[in-house]
Amino acid sequence: MTPLLPLQKLGEDMSLKKLYMKDEGLIPTGTFKARGAAVGVSKAKEVGVHELAMPTNGNAGAAWALYAARAGLKTTIVMPNDAPKITRNEVALSGANLYLVNGLISDAGKIVGKAVKDYQLYDASTLKEPYRIEGKKTMGLEIVEQLNWEIPDVILYPTGGGVGLIGIYKALRELKELGWVEGKMPRLVAVQSTGCAPIVKAWEEGKKESEFWDDSETLAFGINVPKALGDFLVLDAIYNTSGCAIAIGDESMIQEQERIAHLEGSFICPEGAAAFVAARRLREKGWISENDTVVVLNTGAGIKYPNTVNIEPEILQKPDKIIREKKNLMNH
Ligand SMILES: Cc1ncc(COP(=O)(O)O)c(C=O)c1O
Repeated sequence: MTPLLPLQKLGEDMSLKKLYMKDEGLIPTGTFKARGAAVGVSKAKEVGVHELAMPTNGNAGAAWALYAARAGLKTTIVMPNDAPKITRNEVALSGANLYLVNGLISDAGKIVGKAVKDYQLYDASTLKEPYRIEGKKTMGLEIVEQLNWEIPDVILYPTGGGVGLIGIYKALRELKELGWVEGKMPRLVAVQSTGCAPIVKAWEEGKKESEFWDDSETLAFGINVPKALGDFLVLDAIYNTSGCAIAIGDESMIQEQERIAHLEGSFICPEGAAAFVAARRLREKGWISENDTVVVLNTGAGIKYPNTVNIEPEILQKPDKIIREKKNLMNH
């Protein structure tokens, strides 16, 4: 279980009285992707799979390759050449077959699709195997349990393939069906990047499915998904909960990442930072009100993205005195 942290200072800064961060940066491999891997890999082993294959933007591949190593399963992982280097290293260290593609996750998906057919591998792609989502669902179960079985007003989630959001929605529906919680569903918010916002565009146009987003680019690599297989499920979850979808620029994410480190002592990933910017914007617009209980998913640890922060601290010659004036070290 990851902590649901009340963020008082950031909340004051956004004029939100009940702002929480569900901090997924603390789980093994540093992102929420380990939740899907824990269930998906366990189930694959149970049903007798020997080798699984998946396309990834990095974090899922790292989680699945390492969990599979523990389970004694072989893995073939294909990721974009530009994916965060640390995830490439995690996969390689696990002993998995690692391939890089000069393209996006959608290109990696096509390669995996062919490899699955040619070599009879188990396809662990998002929503092609049924158990990953059961792992993601636990985020929704935990949020409600940590709020003493109360449903929050709003949940914001950085959305790429959308499985986390679909999983949270599934968890909440099941809890209601079981009679463990009552009341209104939270308004679910899918947060994307302005450099890759197919679901936002579809939501703005009132469509049920998204279109492929050409030349997508964002430093929040986990949400660089030009066309999600489960886009219709994400949109369904948004429409059914009176939620919304919103796109955030890379520059704003980086500023929010710094603000959160400064105010709350937490170094979060750019995807999580995007979701916090979204909360800020929606509060400014009045879509979220001051007394709403707002849960933002920080889907991973900032230390998995060392290159998003570029500081040039001063190097002291040994006997130099430290000049204690405040400096802005960030280069924006
Ligand atoms: C850190 C991080 N956040 C968010 C996402 C998006 O997750 P989902 O596929 O559930 O939308 C990813 C996916 O790679 C990720 O790595």
